[in-house]
Amino acid sequence: MYRSRVDLALAIREKVIPLLQSRLADAVDLFTQIKQAHWNVKGPSFIALHELFDKIAEIVEEHSDLLAERITALGGRADGTTRIAAGQSSLTEYPLDITDGMQHAAAVADRLADFGKSVRAAIDRAAELGDADTADVFTEISRAIDKQLWFVEAHLQAGH
Ligand SMILES: [Fe+2]
Repeated sequence: MYRSRVDLALAIREKVIPLLQSRLADAVDLFTQIKQAHWNVKGPSFIALHELFDKIAEIVEEHSDLLAERITALGGRADGTTRIAAGQSSLTEYPLDITDGMQHAAAVADRLADFGKSVRAAIDRAAELGDADTADVFTEISRAIDKQLWFVEAHLQAGH
């Protein structure tokens, strides 16, 4: 931990930083997984999904920045390399053998939902720990992920 003038107790920061670090690893992992979908999707919805996945990857990349910079604002060190993320991520690896647009939409939706779930849990945990600002970071991310999940699920929900 770096010394900081921030007025949150060290004991709080020491608990909040690992919470942020876990979700940072997920976000870095998720970014590359959604790029995988962006590059490899095929089928009649190609252009819609290709562009949607790129947009979501961009949003998730911004989220990794938000998480990492909250860690550094609290005096921590943000560990966000791809190799670190691969070791720490809670997400399952992206299926490499799928091609069809709906398979990719389902795979991306599954991972957005998993990420969204752990980010939502982190909102309450950060609030319990007494760090409303970190809870706000998680809330912002959670809200955006719910919205992108809707955009992806809209491709899967026709006729259901
Ligand atoms: Fe691209």
